[in-house]
Amino acid sequence: MPVSLVILAAGQGTRMNSERPKVLHHIAAAPMLHHAMQAGQALSPDRVVVVAGHGAEAVRKAALAFDDTCEVVVQAEQLGTGHAVAQAAPLLAGAAGDTVVLYGDTPFIRAETLEAMLLARARHAVVVLGFEARDPGRYGRLIAEGDALHRIVEYKDATDEERAITLCNSGVICADSATLFDLVAALGNDNAAGEYYLTDIVELARARSLSAGVVTCPEAETMGINTRAQLAEAEAAFQSRARAEALENGVTLTAPETVFFALDTHIGRDAIIGANVVFGPGVTIESEAEILAFCHLTGCHVSRGASVGPFARLRPGAELAEDVHVGNFVEIKNAILDEGVKVGHLTYLGDADVGEFTNIGAGTVTCNYDGVNKHRTRIGKRAFIGSDTMLVAPVSVGDGAMTGSGSVITQDVPGDAVALGRAKQVNKPGLAPKLFDMYKEIKAKRQKGA
Ligand code: UD1
Ligand code: CA
Repeated sequence: MPVSLVILAAGQGTRMNSERPKVLHHIAAAPMLHHAMQAGQALSPDRVVVVAGHGAEAVRKAALAFDDTCEVVVQAEQLGTGHAVAQAAPLLAGAAGDTVVLYGDTPFIRAETLEAMLLARARHAVVVLGFEARDPGRYGRLIAEGDALHRIVEYKDATDEERAITLCNSGVICADSATLFDLVAALGNDNAAGEYYLTDIVELARARSLSAGVVTCPEAETMGINTRAQLAEAEAAFQSRARAEALENGVTLTAPETVFFALDTHIGRDAIIGANVVFGPGVTIESEAEILAFCHLTGCHVSRGASVGPFARLRPGAELAEDVHVGNFVEIKNAILDEGVKVGHLTYLGDADVGEFTNIGAGTVTCNYDGVNKHRTRIGKRAFIGSDTMLVAPVSVGDGAMTGSGSVITQDVPGDAVALGRAKQVNKPGLAPKLFDMYKEIKAKRQKGA
């Protein structure tokens, strides 16, 4: 059965105290909207509609960056969750199958939970995701009997008796698309907030002799983010889950609590991750690669058997083939390092291609930027770049070539050649003691004068 998703993301998030729309605040190096969209991906939806409002253009961009087939509708005025869902009606009212409504600020709903909701649709026309709240606060309360749902009452409209209920509304709702948009079109706004409450569709459904049901999940999944403190809690919750998953998947984490993952970090089995490693977005680490302590990696690919760090930084476009070694205080950006390349120490490789088994000496720098444009450095196979070589791009070094330590390489080096681009050395026999005496005299004079 086809499934459509509607993701509500129009709210401002006043309590974040921010210029940025709430759903664009980051958890695990990704906008929380991406987390919600990823949760929904578990249902392989045919259509994904994001309802944007505050910061609509930025939200649209972020939504399309995650899924370029999603559709974005703008809710110009935030008149409530029911009104927000209604914005998707022109796109989805005629769609076959079910529509699932998710919130952009509730990022952690698990695939199993959404699947359970779809299964529960066999028994109920409308299925709502509920949870037992430790502190029910201002959540909407579910008036239910077993898995039959009678009504949802918003905190603002609830009696004391209803407020004592701890079964709360997560906001996630699922129904046949045609039914959902029919019900949403019939909503009124006669309530304490003067808003069109999506939650009222439960009573509307029952008035039409359609049954409503509740599926529950652990509270951790329904965690909504309204404040910076909750954002920090969500980050911590994500990280502890990601660490547990990595361990479960056969990754060694020497000090799990010090490793930080991004939403899309992929790490293969038997990889080893040392202490204090931070993954930004877009990182893939293959099996049996090792990332030593204190590395920062973003947008890069580390192949099987490669080792990185300690204290290395891999930036976007860093591609490390099998058995590459990148050592301490090395930065790699937009560079392809073929099999077996060694870059041991204190080096910057940016916009570069390095052929297999080439050795890059300590202190090598690709001078890739002329202040206006970036240029590429090409180094062949089995070359040897002497320590402290400056490679002034665009420039190339051929297969099997060498550069002398301290060289400034401004011209292409042919294969098998040795390039020396440094001042010639001159030795002055016996001069050193005389120089020392001269310096001592200068020092003595200065001290007398002082
Ligand atoms: C809503 C539910 C409440 C539930 C709680 C769970 C309603 C009426 N209430 O309350 O039962 O316990 O979520 O977190 O549905 N949004 C829009 N457009 C709008 C209004 C909201 O896109 O006009 C989006 C928000 O950006 C947010 C989500 O809908 O992502 C929820 O809105 P919010 O105002 O936070 O609802 P709550 O009052 O928390
Ligand atoms: Ca909320």
